[in-house]
Amino acid sequence: MQAVILAAGRGTRIRPLSDSHPKPMLPVADRPLLAHVADAAVEAGAEELVFVVGYESDTVREFFGDSYRTVPVLYVEQGATDGTADAVDTARRTIDGDFLVLNGDNLYAARDVKRLVERSPSVAAYEVERPSNYGVLTTDGGVVTEVVEKPANPDSRMANAGAYVFPERALRWLEVEESERGERELTDVLASVADSFDVTPVEFDRWLDVGRPWELLEANERRLGRLAQRLDGDVHEDATVRGAVAVEPGATVDSGAVLEGPVLVREGASVGPNAYVRGATLLGRGVEVGHAVEIKNSVVMADTSVSHLSYVGDSVLGRDVNFGAGTNVANLRHDDQSVRVHVKGDAVDTGRRKFGVVVGDGAKTGINTSLNAGVKLSSGATTRPGESVTRDR
Ligand code: UTP
Repeated sequence: MQAVILAAGRGTRIRPLSDSHPKPMLPVADRPLLAHVADAAVEAGAEELVFVVGYESDTVREFFGDSYRTVPVLYVEQGATDGTADAVDTARRTIDGDFLVLNGDNLYAARDVKRLVERSPSVAAYEVERPSNYGVLTTDGGVVTEVVEKPANPDSRMANAGAYVFPERALRWLEVEESERGERELTDVLASVADSFDVTPVEFDRWLDVGRPWELLEANERRLGRLAQRLDGDVHEDATVRGAVAVEPGATVDSGAVLEGPVLVREGASVGPNAYVRGATLLGRGVEVGHAVEIKNSVVMADTSVSHLSYVGDSVLGRDVNFGAGTNVANLRHDDQSVRVHVKGDAVDTGRRKFGVVVGDGAKTGINTSLNAGVKLSSGATTRPGESVTRDR
């Protein structure tokens, strides 16, 4: 079976992290999010991967090349990103037989995807707390009868988790109307398929949709949680390592540093003397953590530098960021409410009591900058020495 993996979107809700990288190529532990999706597809038995690409597509092509884990890879370019049904439409000519569709920005468990493939035609269902935020699946006698988008009074707590196995005939039903958000959506294709076929809802045990910055942090928490201790890099004999800490070859950890897992220190990264790095933390390739820096539960992308005496907690830092010495991140509010982050102009509750900051590629803070909880710095933004930043910039 072919797996069509959707990765063309612009990732507007996760900006600024997607300013120069497609959201599916953002890092989750030791590989891009999209590689976790491809892994699930391969492990579920996919015989060909068809990536639908568009926004910054070269990054995807360069990473995967012509084959992934011996499975052949094809690319189709979606011109305008008009929605998930339009994305599958772009791949129409390459599809032969029943096909699996996965979102390139969702974290799936391979065994769930395998069960989905075994029950074709099928749709992934996931039990959620607030079904009225999702497309809710209505079923009768074990088959899907309806998908209702964001219902006020949902029939069930089973959300459409956006993974499908469609019969080849579904290709005839891709010309759906635009939805309220102005996109052609696969949910509407599913409704047509369900009119003609018995579509089985397959309940997934694990699922995470990575749409917003804190969900990228959560994806990393989940996958870093699977790490085993592995010290292949140069770890000083006076450093302390506790729990699941992986230091890749070519990474260094200096004297007096304390690493508490799960922590992944990627190739070429360096952790300075007396630094304290607590899980779940990813230090990407070439990251520099200075003397006596504390980093806790954060994603720090490639080539970023956090200079001496800084604190970073519950945050996502893009690539090539430079935190000046003494930069401090607040990750907790005085009123103990969960932290809010602006997403496309709206203040959105992250649901997290502790959340720090989101920093775009190439941003630089002056020494002794203080960054308030929930603040976003856009790509290339700068702060002055001693500045206290309480709003996005
Ligand atoms: P999303 O709507 O979650 O991703 O689509 P997006 O459009 O990139 O993000 P926002 O809404 O602007 O924040 C789910 C998946 O489908 C892909 C996306 O890349 C993502 O992996 N997609 C979406 C396409 O391939 N083409 C599209 O036209 C839309």
